[in-house]
Amino acid sequence: MNELEKSRRKRADAFAGALERASVAFGREMALSRYTTIGLGGPAEFLVRPRSADEIHTLLKLATAYELPVKVLGAGSNLIVSDAGVRGVVLHTAALDSIRFEEGGIVHAGAGCHFPGLVRQSVSRGLRGLEAGVGIPGSLGGVLTMNAGAYQFSIGPLIDEVVAVSVDRGKVVMPRGAIDFRYRASSFGRGLIVAQARLVLRPDEPAAIRADMDERMRFRKQTQPVGVKSAGCIFKNPEGESAGKLLDDLGLKGFSVGGARISEVHANFIVHDGGASTADVVGLIDAVRERVLEKAEIELEPEVMTWS
Ligand code: EPU
Repeated sequence: MNELEKSRRKRADAFAGALERASVAFGREMALSRYTTIGLGGPAEFLVRPRSADEIHTLLKLATAYELPVKVLGAGSNLIVSDAGVRGVVLHTAALDSIRFEEGGIVHAGAGCHFPGLVRQSVSRGLRGLEAGVGIPGSLGGVLTMNAGAYQFSIGPLIDEVVAVSVDRGKVVMPRGAIDFRYRASSFGRGLIVAQARLVLRPDEPAAIRADMDERMRFRKQTQPVGVKSAGCIFKNPEGESAGKLLDDLGLKGFSVGGARISEVHANFIVHDGGASTADVVGLIDAVRERVLEKAEIELEPEVMTWS
């Protein structure tokens, strides 16, 4: 081990001690394949699970002090992690998973709550608004950060207020008007981490909302690979086009690199049957981008996040 590596290890051990003293829960060298929906990825040097906005702030301050980079992990649904894993801190929002319903359709939900679960609980209570988002496989924090959407559904109009955290500003309460939502992007990310959100839903007849949700889920099952390991849509839609249709028209359904292949159901999804590595997935993404550039003169931009 060289001097640089020795001092880095010392710094990492000191960071671990500081987390312990602050009572922030964490693990070391934790396999991220368990936490990504595609089921692939090497270990996180630190996997940390803060339980409140204050603990997020404590973690961010310590990571800054010990010069460790921080990445945020929600439900791992839009994410590809290298086989070597990531050094530094992965802030896992799993412990911020509380959901509280109030009179008048108000819902307080933590960033780490599983979005499909939040949709189903709201629908069971006769609250309308989230049902068209059924099947978006993220955490609430992830859905907000990347402004995930499906069909006519987008989360923005349902949000009343978000509590977010940054290392410099600490806990920030952002009313709806202060939050910017764009195509697959928002004010969050880049150091501003969602901790909690308040949503306003509309009370309605539970059976009617459930019927709409079931209809949406049926349609999704027909048009997207559901119940198999994937990272969701791989590429952003180019202006005025569907990346999936583009790949399909080029005959790329079923095209594979190693154990990773383009889904036969929707060509913007990469799926595998267990025998793939992240290197296969990345190789497939590169091969497909090259093919599209050559044949259609379009440069596809990945929608998934890649950690290495
Ligand atoms: N199509 C094909 N072949 C394919 C895939 C699609 O011909 O392999 C056709 C469809 O038949 C349809 C058109 O392309 O006529 C558009 O397809 P779709 O309705 O599936 O929409 P999309 O543009 O491919 C977007 C989002 C999805 C979201 C759906 C439904 C992006 C990159 N994708 O897909 O989001 O679920 O609309 O609203 O914005 C994701 O973000 O991970 C994601 C999957």
